[in-house]
Amino acid sequence: MWGSFTEQLGRSIYTGIYQPDHPQADDKGFRKDVIQAISQLNVPLIRYPGGNFVSGYNWEDGIGPKEKRPTRLDLAWKSIETNEFGLHEFMQWCKLVNAQPDMAINLGTRGIDAARNLIEYCNFPKGTYWSDLRRKNGAENPFNIKLWSLGNEMDGDWQIGHKTAHEYGRLAHEAAKVMRLVDPSIELVASGSSLHDMETFGNWEETILDDVYDDVEYLSLHQYYDNYEHDISKFLASSEDFDAFINDVIAICDAVKARKHSNKIMYLAMDEWNVWYHSKSADEKQKPWQIAPHLLEDHYNFADALVVGALAIVLMKHADRVKIGCLAQLVNVIAPIMTRTHGNPSVWYQSIFYPFMQVSNFGQGTALTVKNDVSTYHVDNHEVPYVDVAAVYNDKQQELILFIENKANVSAQLCSKINNLVLKNVISATKFSGYDFELTNEKQIMKFQNLTIEVNDNNQIQVELDPYSWNVIRIA
Ligand code: AHR
Repeated sequence: MWGSFTEQLGRSIYTGIYQPDHPQADDKGFRKDVIQAISQLNVPLIRYPGGNFVSGYNWEDGIGPKEKRPTRLDLAWKSIETNEFGLHEFMQWCKLVNAQPDMAINLGTRGIDAARNLIEYCNFPKGTYWSDLRRKNGAENPFNIKLWSLGNEMDGDWQIGHKTAHEYGRLAHEAAKVMRLVDPSIELVASGSSLHDMETFGNWEETILDDVYDDVEYLSLHQYYDNYEHDISKFLASSEDFDAFINDVIAICDAVKARKHSNKIMYLAMDEWNVWYHSKSADEKQKPWQIAPHLLEDHYNFADALVVGALAIVLMKHADRVKIGCLAQLVNVIAPIMTRTHGNPSVWYQSIFYPFMQVSNFGQGTALTVKNDVSTYHVDNHEVPYVDVAAVYNDKQQELILFIENKANVSAQLCSKINNLVLKNVISATKFSGYDFELTNEKQIMKFQNLTIEVNDNNQIQVELDPYSWNVIRIA
Protein backbone atom coordinates (compact mmCIF):
# COMPACT_ATOMS: atom_id res chain seq x y z
CA MET A 1 0.00 0.00 0.00
CA TRP A 2 1.36 3.40 -0.95
CA GLY A 3 1.38 5.87 1.88
CA SER A 4 2.99 8.96 3.24
CA PHE A 5 4.02 10.53 6.49
CA THR A 6 3.27 13.74 8.33
CA GLU A 7 5.30 14.55 11.42
CA GLN A 8 4.90 17.31 14.00
CA LEU A 9 8.01 18.88 12.49
CA GLY A 10 8.75 22.22 10.86
CA ARG A 11 5.83 23.30 8.67
CA SER A 12 4.47 19.84 8.00
CA ILE A 13 1.44 20.34 10.25
CA TYR A 14 1.45 24.03 11.17
CA THR A 15 1.09 26.18 8.03
CA GLY A 16 1.16 22.93 6.06
CA ILE A 17 -2.00 20.94 6.57
CA TYR A 18 -3.31 23.15 9.42
CA GLN A 19 -3.45 26.94 9.41
CA PRO A 20 -6.65 28.42 10.86
CA ASP A 21 -5.85 31.98 9.70
CA HIS A 22 -5.31 30.99 6.07
CA PRO A 23 -7.97 32.10 3.56
CA GLN A 24 -8.25 28.50 2.36
CA ALA A 25 -8.76 27.04 5.85
CA ASP A 26 -12.03 25.29 6.69
CA ASP A 27 -13.86 25.82 9.98
CA LYS A 28 -11.44 23.46 11.76
CA GLY A 29 -8.33 25.13 10.41
CA PHE A 30 -7.48 22.48 7.80
CA ARG A 31 -6.21 23.91 4.55
CA LYS A 32 -8.55 22.96 1.71
CA ASP A 33 -5.94 23.75 -0.95
CA VAL A 34 -3.63 21.18 0.66
CA ILE A 35 -6.40 18.60 0.94
CA GLN A 36 -7.08 19.06 -2.74
CA ALA A 37 -3.39 18.58 -3.59
CA ILE A 38 -3.17 15.45 -1.42
CA SER A 39 -6.27 13.98 -3.07
CA GLN A 40 -4.35 13.99 -6.36
CA LEU A 41 -1.63 11.92 -4.74
CA ASN A 42 -4.14 9.42 -3.41
CA VAL A 43 -2.33 8.19 -0.30
CA PRO A 44 -4.51 5.74 1.63
CA LEU A 45 -2.14 5.50 4.62
CA ILE A 46 -0.48 8.31 6.59
CA ARG A 47 2.03 7.82 9.38
CA TYR A 48 1.87 10.23 12.34
CA PRO A 49 3.01 11.98 14.65
CA GLY A 50 6.66 11.05 14.01
CA GLY A 51 9.42 10.40 13.24
CA ASN A 52 11.96 11.56 15.76
CA PHE A 53 9.28 13.78 17.31
CA VAL A 54 7.28 10.85 18.65
CA SER A 55 10.11 9.63 20.87
CA GLY A 56 9.64 12.65 23.16
CA TYR A 57 5.90 13.14 22.71
CA ASN A 58 3.17 12.94 25.34
CA TRP A 59 0.08 12.10 23.33
CA GLU A 60 -2.14 13.48 26.12
CA ASP A 61 -0.76 16.98 25.36
CA GLY A 62 -2.67 16.95 22.09
CA ILE A 63 -6.18 16.20 23.41
CA GLY A 64 -8.86 18.29 25.15
CA PRO A 65 -9.63 21.98 24.79
CA LYS A 66 -6.92 23.67 22.74
CA GLU A 67 -6.52 26.57 25.15
CA LYS A 68 -5.62 24.15 27.92
CA ARG A 69 -3.03 22.20 25.97
CA PRO A 70 0.57 22.72 27.12
CA THR A 71 3.25 24.33 25.00
CA ARG A 72 6.34 22.13 25.13
CA LEU A 73 9.91 21.95 23.95
CA ASP A 74 10.25 19.54 21.07
CA LEU A 75 13.77 18.29 21.73
CA ALA A 76 13.98 16.22 18.55
CA TRP A 77 13.75 19.26 16.29
CA LYS A 78 14.64 22.00 18.80
CA SER A 79 11.28 23.65 18.18
CA ILE A 80 8.32 24.85 20.20
CA GLU A 81 5.28 22.57 20.03
CA THR A 82 2.00 24.33 20.83
CA ASN A 83 -0.04 21.12 20.65
CA GLU A 84 -2.81 23.02 18.90
CA PHE A 85 -2.95 20.06 16.53
CA GLY A 86 -3.19 16.62 18.11
CA LEU A 87 -4.86 13.24 17.91
CA HIS A 88 -8.46 14.35 17.26
CA GLU A 89 -7.39 16.88 14.66
CA PHE A 90 -5.30 14.26 12.88
CA MET A 91 -8.16 11.75 12.85
CA GLN A 92 -10.61 14.36 11.50
CA TRP A 93 -8.13 15.40 8.83
CA CYS A 94 -7.46 11.77 7.79
CA LYS A 95 -11.13 11.45 6.87
CA LEU A 96 -10.88 14.52 4.65
CA VAL A 97 -7.96 13.04 2.71
CA ASN A 98 -9.38 9.48 2.64
CA ALA A 99 -6.47 8.01 4.53
CA GLN A 100 -6.07 5.54 7.34
CA PRO A 101 -3.59 6.42 10.10
CA ASP A 102 -0.41 4.57 10.93
CA MET A 103 -0.14 5.74 14.53
CA ALA A 104 3.33 5.70 16.06
CA ILE A 105 3.75 5.31 19.81
CA ASN A 106 6.52 6.77 21.93
CA LEU A 107 8.97 4.07 22.97
CA GLY A 108 11.71 6.63 23.64
CA THR A 109 10.74 8.51 26.80
CA ARG A 110 7.65 6.41 27.44
CA GLY A 111 6.57 2.81 27.24
CA ILE A 112 3.88 0.26 27.88
CA ASP A 113 1.76 2.38 30.23
CA ALA A 114 1.31 5.23 27.74
CA ALA A 115 0.80 2.68 24.95
CA ARG A 116 -2.04 0.88 26.71
CA ASN A 117 -3.71 4.18 27.64
CA LEU A 118 -3.46 5.54 24.13
CA ILE A 119 -5.01 2.48 22.53
CA GLU A 120 -7.77 2.41 25.13
CA TYR A 121 -8.44 6.07 24.34
CA CYS A 122 -8.51 5.43 20.60
CA ASN A 123 -10.07 2.02 20.15
CA PHE A 124 -12.13 1.08 23.23
CA PRO A 125 -15.84 1.85 22.75
CA LYS A 126 -16.85 3.34 26.12
CA GLY A 127 -17.26 2.95 29.86
CA THR A 128 -13.61 3.31 30.92
CA TYR A 129 -11.55 6.30 31.97
CA TRP A 130 -9.69 6.79 28.67
CA SER A 131 -12.50 5.83 26.31
CA ASP A 132 -14.92 8.15 28.12
CA LEU A 133 -12.38 10.94 27.98
CA ARG A 134 -12.27 10.52 24.19
CA ARG A 135 -16.07 10.79 24.11
CA LYS A 136 -15.95 13.85 26.34
CA ASN A 137 -13.43 15.34 23.89
CA GLY A 138 -15.90 15.00 21.06
CA ALA A 139 -15.39 11.56 19.52
CA GLU A 140 -18.31 9.36 20.55
CA ASN A 141 -17.22 6.48 18.37
CA PRO A 142 -13.82 4.84 18.76
CA PHE A 143 -11.23 5.78 16.19
CA ASN A 144 -10.53 2.07 15.60
CA ILE A 145 -6.97 2.67 14.49
CA LYS A 146 -5.77 -0.52 12.88
CA LEU A 147 -2.08 0.04 12.22
CA TRP A 148 0.40 1.03 14.94
CA SER A 149 4.15 1.61 14.82
CA LEU A 150 6.13 0.56 17.87
CA GLY A 151 8.45 3.55 18.22
CA ASN A 152 10.66 5.21 15.65
CA GLU A 153 14.28 4.58 14.64
CA MET A 154 15.16 3.22 18.05
CA ASP A 155 18.51 2.02 16.65
CA GLY A 156 19.70 5.61 16.05
CA ASP A 157 21.80 7.36 18.70
CA TRP A 158 20.08 10.65 17.74
CA GLN A 159 16.78 9.21 18.89
CA ILE A 160 15.44 10.38 22.23
CA GLY A 161 15.47 7.25 24.38
CA HIS A 162 17.72 5.37 21.91
CA LYS A 163 17.98 1.71 22.85
CA THR A 164 20.09 -1.33 22.26
CA ALA A 165 18.43 -4.03 20.19
CA HIS A 166 17.88 -6.12 23.34
CA GLU A 167 16.29 -3.22 25.19
CA TYR A 168 14.06 -2.31 22.27
CA GLY A 169 13.06 -5.92 21.52
CA ARG A 170 11.87 -6.49 25.08
CA LEU A 171 10.04 -3.18 25.29
CA ALA A 172 8.36 -3.60 21.90
CA HIS A 173 7.25 -7.10 22.88
CA GLU A 174 5.67 -5.89 26.11
CA ALA A 175 4.07 -2.86 24.43
CA ALA A 176 2.62 -5.13 21.73
CA LYS A 177 1.28 -7.44 24.41
CA VAL A 178 -0.68 -4.76 26.30
CA MET A 179 -1.91 -3.14 23.10
CA ARG A 180 -3.27 -6.46 21.85
CA LEU A 181 -4.91 -7.09 25.22
CA VAL A 182 -6.90 -3.90 24.66
CA ASP A 183 -7.57 -4.53 20.96
CA PRO A 184 -6.62 -7.91 19.45
CA SER A 185 -7.52 -6.76 15.94
CA ILE A 186 -4.64 -4.30 15.48
CA GLU A 187 -1.58 -4.69 13.25
CA LEU A 188 1.87 -3.71 14.47
CA VAL A 189 5.12 -2.50 12.93
CA ALA A 190 8.44 -3.08 14.70
CA SER A 191 11.12 -0.44 14.28
CA GLY A 192 13.90 -1.73 12.03
CA SER A 193 17.08 -0.02 10.86
CA SER A 194 17.14 3.71 10.16
CA LEU A 195 19.43 3.26 7.18
CA HIS A 196 21.01 0.38 5.31
CA ASP A 197 24.48 1.48 6.42
CA MET A 198 23.79 1.70 10.15
CA GLU A 199 26.60 0.00 12.02
CA THR A 200 24.08 -2.14 13.86
CA PHE A 201 22.23 -3.15 10.67
CA GLY A 202 21.54 -6.88 10.56
CA ASN A 203 22.24 -7.51 14.22
CA TRP A 204 19.48 -5.08 15.08
CA GLU A 205 16.92 -6.91 12.95
CA GLU A 206 17.97 -10.36 14.09
CA THR A 207 18.00 -9.46 17.77
CA ILE A 208 14.71 -7.60 17.90
CA LEU A 209 12.93 -10.21 15.78
CA ASP A 210 13.88 -12.82 18.35
CA ASP A 211 11.64 -10.91 20.75
CA VAL A 212 8.88 -9.62 18.48
CA TYR A 213 8.58 -12.08 15.60
CA ASP A 214 5.24 -13.36 16.85
CA ASP A 215 3.98 -9.93 17.92
CA VAL A 216 4.22 -7.87 14.76
CA GLU A 217 3.02 -8.08 11.17
CA TYR A 218 5.69 -5.78 9.74
CA LEU A 219 9.28 -4.78 10.22
CA SER A 220 10.08 -1.20 9.23
CA LEU A 221 12.94 0.09 7.07
CA HIS A 222 13.91 3.72 6.51
CA GLN A 223 16.14 4.97 3.73
CA TYR A 224 17.08 8.36 2.26
CA TYR A 225 19.50 9.17 -0.58
CA ASP A 226 21.50 12.22 -1.57
CA ASN A 227 23.48 13.58 -4.49
CA TYR A 228 26.19 15.59 -2.75
CA GLU A 229 28.60 14.33 -5.41
CA HIS A 230 26.49 15.71 -8.28
CA ASP A 231 27.02 12.41 -10.07
CA ILE A 232 23.80 11.55 -11.88
CA SER A 233 24.70 7.96 -12.79
CA LYS A 234 25.65 7.18 -9.23
CA PHE A 235 22.61 8.95 -7.84
CA LEU A 236 20.28 6.98 -10.13
CA ALA A 237 22.00 3.82 -8.93
CA SER A 238 20.59 4.50 -5.42
CA SER A 239 17.84 2.09 -6.40
CA GLU A 240 20.37 -0.77 -6.38
CA ASP A 241 21.27 -0.10 -2.77
CA PHE A 242 17.56 0.22 -1.97
CA ASP A 243 16.96 -3.16 -3.58
CA ALA A 244 19.90 -4.71 -1.70
CA PHE A 245 18.61 -3.29 1.59
CA ILE A 246 15.21 -4.91 1.06
CA ASN A 247 16.78 -8.22 0.02
CA ASP A 248 19.01 -8.18 3.09
CA VAL A 249 16.10 -7.55 5.44
CA ILE A 250 14.03 -10.28 3.79
CA ALA A 251 16.94 -12.70 4.24
CA ILE A 252 17.23 -11.86 7.93
CA CYS A 253 13.47 -12.15 8.52
CA ASP A 254 13.44 -15.52 6.79
CA ALA A 255 16.47 -16.75 8.75
CA VAL A 256 14.70 -15.88 12.01
CA LYS A 257 11.55 -17.54 10.69
CA ALA A 258 13.49 -20.73 9.96
CA ARG A 259 15.25 -20.68 13.32
CA LYS A 260 11.89 -20.29 15.05
CA HIS A 261 10.29 -23.06 12.97
CA SER A 262 7.60 -20.51 12.22
CA ASN A 263 5.11 -20.48 9.37
CA LYS A 264 4.60 -16.77 9.65
CA ILE A 265 5.93 -14.50 6.91
CA MET A 266 7.28 -11.18 8.14
CA TYR A 267 6.23 -8.34 5.85
CA LEU A 268 8.19 -5.14 5.45
CA ALA A 269 7.06 -1.56 5.93
CA MET A 270 9.31 0.90 4.09
CA ASP A 271 7.69 3.64 6.11
CA GLU A 272 10.21 6.40 5.33
CA TRP A 273 11.87 6.69 1.94
CA ASN A 274 12.89 9.62 -0.20
CA VAL A 275 15.75 11.86 -1.29
CA TRP A 276 16.89 14.17 1.51
CA TYR A 277 19.89 16.47 1.49
CA HIS A 278 19.18 19.89 -0.04
CA SER A 279 18.05 21.48 3.22
CA LYS A 280 20.56 19.97 5.62
CA SER A 281 23.07 22.84 5.76
CA ALA A 282 20.29 25.48 6.04
CA ASP A 283 18.74 23.50 8.90
CA GLU A 284 21.98 23.60 10.85
CA LYS A 285 21.79 27.39 10.80
CA GLN A 286 18.16 27.61 11.97
CA LYS A 287 17.53 29.42 15.23
CA PRO A 288 16.26 26.94 17.85
CA TRP A 289 12.94 27.11 19.66
CA GLN A 290 10.73 28.55 16.95
CA ILE A 291 7.13 27.55 16.27
CA ALA A 292 6.77 25.87 12.87
CA PRO A 293 10.28 26.72 11.61
CA HIS A 294 11.37 26.14 8.03
CA LEU A 295 13.03 22.78 8.53
CA LEU A 296 13.83 19.98 6.08
CA GLU A 297 12.41 22.07 3.23
CA ASP A 298 14.24 20.38 0.40
CA HIS A 299 13.45 21.90 -2.98
CA TYR A 300 13.65 18.97 -5.33
CA ASN A 301 15.16 19.01 -8.79
CA PHE A 302 14.58 16.77 -11.79
CA ALA A 303 17.32 14.29 -10.79
CA ASP A 304 15.55 13.77 -7.46
CA ALA A 305 12.32 12.96 -9.29
CA LEU A 306 14.10 10.30 -11.32
CA VAL A 307 15.49 8.75 -8.14
CA VAL A 308 12.06 8.73 -6.49
CA GLY A 309 10.71 6.96 -9.59
CA ALA A 310 13.57 4.44 -9.49
CA LEU A 311 12.95 3.71 -5.79
CA ALA A 312 9.24 3.27 -6.44
CA ILE A 313 10.04 0.69 -9.13
CA VAL A 314 12.05 -1.26 -6.55
CA LEU A 315 9.13 -1.18 -4.10
CA MET A 316 6.75 -2.49 -6.75
CA LYS A 317 9.15 -5.30 -7.64
CA HIS A 318 9.17 -6.32 -3.98
CA ALA A 319 5.41 -6.03 -3.53
CA ASP A 320 5.23 -9.64 -2.33
CA ARG A 321 7.09 -8.64 0.85
CA VAL A 322 7.05 -4.85 1.10
CA LYS A 323 3.42 -4.15 1.91
CA ILE A 324 3.74 -0.53 3.03
CA GLY A 325 5.65 2.22 1.23
CA CYS A 326 5.37 5.65 2.88
CA LEU A 327 7.06 8.48 1.04
CA ALA A 328 8.59 10.72 3.72
CA GLN A 329 7.05 13.14 3.99
CA LEU A 330 3.88 14.75 2.62
CA VAL A 331 3.75 18.54 3.05
CA ASN A 332 6.64 21.05 3.33
CA VAL A 333 9.05 18.68 5.09
CA ILE A 334 11.03 16.68 2.46
CA ALA A 335 7.73 16.72 0.65
CA PRO A 336 6.06 16.49 -2.74
CA ILE A 337 3.67 19.29 -1.76
CA MET A 338 4.78 22.74 -0.60
CA THR A 339 2.67 25.53 0.83
CA ARG A 340 3.05 29.26 1.07
CA THR A 341 1.94 30.60 4.44
CA HIS A 342 0.71 33.74 2.67
CA GLY A 343 0.45 34.59 -1.01
CA ASN A 344 -0.14 32.73 -4.22
CA PRO A 345 -0.03 30.15 -5.47
CA SER A 346 -0.78 28.88 -1.99
CA VAL A 347 0.37 25.36 -2.93
CA TRP A 348 3.01 24.21 -5.37
CA TYR A 349 4.23 20.82 -6.47
CA GLN A 350 7.77 19.58 -6.31
CA SER A 351 9.39 17.52 -9.06
CA ILE A 352 8.98 14.36 -6.97
CA PHE A 353 5.22 14.88 -6.83
CA TYR A 354 4.87 13.65 -10.42
CA PRO A 355 6.38 10.15 -10.34
CA PHE A 356 4.93 9.55 -6.89
CA MET A 357 1.46 10.61 -8.05
CA GLN A 358 1.65 8.09 -10.89
CA VAL A 359 2.79 5.18 -8.76
CA SER A 360 0.29 5.88 -5.99
CA ASN A 361 -2.59 6.17 -8.45
CA PHE A 362 -1.67 3.50 -10.98
CA GLY A 363 0.67 1.19 -9.07
CA GLN A 364 -2.30 -0.69 -7.60
CA GLY A 365 -3.06 -4.34 -8.21
CA THR A 366 -0.77 -7.31 -8.70
CA ALA A 367 2.90 -6.76 -9.36
CA LEU A 368 4.07 -8.93 -12.24
CA THR A 369 7.44 -10.53 -12.78
CA VAL A 370 9.45 -8.68 -15.38
CA LYS A 371 12.30 -10.38 -17.21
CA ASN A 372 14.79 -7.86 -18.51
CA ASP A 373 17.54 -8.19 -21.02
CA VAL A 374 19.32 -4.87 -20.74
CA SER A 375 22.89 -3.70 -20.53
CA THR A 376 24.24 -2.41 -17.26
CA TYR A 377 26.72 0.08 -15.86
CA HIS A 378 28.90 -0.33 -12.84
CA VAL A 379 28.60 1.72 -9.63
CA ASP A 380 30.34 0.66 -6.41
CA ASN A 381 29.48 -3.02 -6.10
CA HIS A 382 26.36 -2.86 -8.22
CA GLU A 383 25.59 -3.69 -11.84
CA VAL A 384 22.93 -1.11 -12.64
CA PRO A 385 20.53 -1.83 -15.52
CA TYR A 386 20.19 1.18 -17.80
CA VAL A 387 16.48 0.52 -18.10
CA ASP A 388 14.38 -0.48 -15.14
CA VAL A 389 10.79 -1.71 -15.38
CA ALA A 390 7.98 -2.57 -12.98
CA ALA A 391 4.70 -3.99 -14.21
CA VAL A 392 1.39 -4.07 -12.39
CA TYR A 393 -1.86 -5.68 -13.45
CA ASN A 394 -4.94 -3.92 -12.14
CA ASP A 395 -7.64 -6.54 -12.04
CA LYS A 396 -10.46 -4.11 -11.28
CA GLN A 397 -9.68 -1.87 -14.24
CA GLN A 398 -8.34 -4.79 -16.26
CA GLU A 399 -5.31 -2.82 -17.26
CA LEU A 400 -1.58 -3.33 -17.33
CA ILE A 401 0.61 -0.52 -16.12
CA LEU A 402 4.30 -0.31 -16.97
CA PHE A 403 6.63 2.01 -15.05
CA ILE A 404 9.86 2.42 -16.96
CA GLU A 405 12.94 4.44 -16.19
CA ASN A 406 15.77 5.03 -18.62
CA LYS A 407 18.91 5.83 -16.62
CA ALA A 408 21.09 6.21 -19.71
CA ASN A 409 22.18 9.48 -21.29
CA VAL A 410 20.97 8.17 -24.65
CA SER A 411 17.56 7.06 -25.79
CA ALA A 412 16.68 3.38 -25.51
CA GLN A 413 14.42 1.08 -27.52
CA LEU A 414 12.10 -0.95 -25.37
CA CYS A 415 10.46 -3.99 -26.84
CA SER A 416 8.25 -5.68 -24.33
CA LYS A 417 6.46 -8.99 -24.82
CA ILE A 418 3.49 -9.58 -22.56
CA ASN A 419 2.62 -13.18 -21.87
CA ASN A 420 -0.89 -14.42 -21.10
CA LEU A 421 -2.62 -11.08 -21.64
CA VAL A 422 -4.07 -9.75 -24.84
CA LEU A 423 -3.82 -6.00 -24.74
CA LYS A 424 -4.54 -3.53 -27.47
CA ASN A 425 -5.95 -0.35 -26.12
CA VAL A 426 -3.48 2.26 -24.89
CA ILE A 427 -5.22 4.26 -22.17
CA SER A 428 -2.36 6.67 -21.66
CA ALA A 429 1.38 6.83 -22.18
CA THR A 430 3.42 9.61 -20.63
CA LYS A 431 7.03 10.56 -20.31
CA PHE A 432 8.76 12.85 -17.85
CA SER A 433 12.04 13.89 -19.37
CA GLY A 434 14.21 16.57 -20.88
CA TYR A 435 14.57 18.79 -17.82
CA ASP A 436 17.72 20.21 -16.30
CA PHE A 437 18.84 17.85 -13.52
CA GLU A 438 19.75 20.58 -11.10
CA LEU A 439 16.69 22.81 -11.48
CA THR A 440 13.55 22.60 -9.40
CA ASN A 441 9.97 22.94 -10.51
CA GLU A 442 10.11 26.64 -9.59
CA LYS A 443 12.76 27.28 -12.25
CA GLN A 444 11.39 25.07 -15.02
CA ILE A 445 7.79 23.97 -15.35
CA MET A 446 7.75 20.18 -15.26
CA LYS A 447 4.84 18.21 -16.62
CA PHE A 448 4.08 14.90 -18.28
CA GLN A 449 4.36 14.74 -22.04
CA ASN A 450 2.86 12.22 -24.44
CA LEU A 451 4.89 9.14 -25.15
CA THR A 452 4.46 7.47 -28.50
CA ILE A 453 4.06 3.73 -28.27
CA GLU A 454 3.13 0.94 -30.60
CA VAL A 455 1.44 -2.35 -29.75
CA ASN A 456 1.82 -4.85 -32.59
CA ASP A 457 -0.14 -8.01 -33.47
CA ASN A 458 2.30 -10.16 -31.53
CA ASN A 459 1.27 -8.41 -28.32
CA GLN A 460 4.57 -6.56 -28.21
CA ILE A 461 4.94 -3.01 -27.00
CA GLN A 462 7.57 -0.95 -28.79
CA VAL A 463 8.65 2.37 -27.47
CA GLU A 464 11.59 4.71 -27.71
CA LEU A 465 12.54 6.03 -24.29
CA ASP A 466 14.10 9.46 -23.95
CA PRO A 467 17.47 9.69 -22.22
CA TYR A 468 17.07 10.02 -18.45
CA SER A 469 13.32 9.55 -18.51
CA TRP A 470 10.48 8.33 -16.33
CA ASN A 471 7.69 6.73 -18.38
CA VAL A 472 4.30 5.27 -17.54
CA ILE A 473 2.19 3.24 -19.93
CA ARG A 474 -1.37 2.12 -19.20
CA ILE A 475 -2.81 -0.42 -21.55
CA ALA A 476 -6.00 -2.49 -21.49
O1 AHR B 1 11.54 12.24 8.06
C1 AHR B 1 12.46 13.00 8.78
C2 AHR B 1 13.13 12.19 9.89
O2 AHR B 1 13.91 11.20 9.30
C3 AHR B 1 12.21 11.43 10.81
O3 AHR B 1 11.77 12.20 11.87
C4 AHR B 1 13.08 10.33 11.29
O4 AHR B 1 12.35 9.17 11.59
C5 AHR B 1 14.08 10.12 10.19
O5 AHR B 1 15.37 10.12 10.66
